[in-house]
Amino acid sequence: MRTRQAVRPVEDLEDPSARGPRIQEVIVKKIFKYTGIVAIGVVLLLILAGAGLYYKGGNALDAKYMVATAAIEASTDSASLARGEHLVNMLGCSDCHGGNLAGRVMIDAPPFLVVASNLTKGKGGVGNVYSTLDYDRAMRNGVRPDGTPLIIMPSKAVHKLADADAAAIIGYIQSLPPVDNELPETMLRPLGRVLAASGQFDVGMEVSPEKPGHGTVPTLDDPLAYGKYSADMICAHCHQANFKGGVPMGPGPVPTDITAYGKIPVDQFLATLRTGKTPGGRELDQEAMPIAIFNHWSDDEIKAVHAYLATL
Ligand code: HEC
Ligand code: HEC
Repeated sequence: MRTRQAVRPVEDLEDPSARGPRIQEVIVKKIFKYTGIVAIGVVLLLILAGAGLYYKGGNALDAKYMVATAAIEASTDSASLARGEHLVNMLGCSDCHGGNLAGRVMIDAPPFLVVASNLTKGKGGVGNVYSTLDYDRAMRNGVRPDGTPLIIMPSKAVHKLADADAAAIIGYIQSLPPVDNELPETMLRPLGRVLAASGQFDVGMEVSPEKPGHGTVPTLDDPLAYGKYSADMICAHCHQANFKGGVPMGPGPVPTDITAYGKIPVDQFLATLRTGKTPGGRELDQEAMPIAIFNHWSDDEIKAVHAYLATL
């Protein structure tokens, strides 16, 4: 019966009066069917590509990096603990990880959930399981003990920290009272995974495979050396190694060229970093240019940066 029914329209087509509309109808139906199939195909391909990127992006966060670590021991003498506390504020660790370093949710956005970890020995903190090496590998190499990358954590800057300063920071963190603060884990959401897989977001951008640490920590007795040490670490992280800026750090304003700031009077430079207002009267975006961190720098530490910028 089915065969006969299928044959029938063909017979009908032999009637010229019926041919036109019928053919059109058949063609239209065929095209519709065809485009329907194509549309379904396209949707399937998009889903597959999306899923591919999704998994590739997911894998980016699971990627393991081989890094060369430094062998340091945490310092626990009172001078080192004081230096460690100062650095934690001066380098902005407490800005992201919270005043007590017990961590917090930093970014909860469509591409990702970014959580600055609880660094203490309390519940949910890494202090219970992290050795000095584990802390250092995270801080200065940008990876967890299993080699997976940390995101948003500015390890490329911290990488330039001298061994003695890294030892002071870790000694200080290990001396902190435990704070219970169980937080969700940093994760890439589907959009973040697709951004990561398509190269728009470099998951490993803060990883430094090279062994960190260099020589001695300069003191303020040598302002030029101290200024260079801090500026190469902190200011250069955003303003680039030549301090000429120009590379966007995110959605906000682009870090500008600050080389000319070594030529202005030191008090004006100090005022700029204290108030967030340039000598020309421009209010800087204080989210993008972290004025809050500089409140933890002494006047002499800021003046040392000026001394260094003056040599450029
Ligand atoms: C701009 C914000 C920011 C600053 C500044 C910052 N961190 Fe982090 N840090 C993070 C985030 C976010 C993570 C978690 C990243 C992840 O899970 O992928 C993290 C992770 C870590 C970890 C690894 C913990 C873990 O869960 O494995 C350590 C250790 C750490 N930070 C120490 C420091 C120290 C010490 C400083 C200062 C020298 C510092 N951080 C400065 C944001 C920051
Ligand atoms: C987290 C990124 C970041 C760090 C770290 C940072 N800056 Fe900036 N800075 C910026 C951005 C972004 C701007 C531009 C802000 C704006 O246009 O509102 C800026 C602007 C400035 C300006 C004003 C320049 C102008 O256009 O007139 C000065 C001066 C400056 N920074 C000095 C420093 C110094 C010195 C350090 C280190 C001690 C430093 N910055 C560290 C991001 C940063």
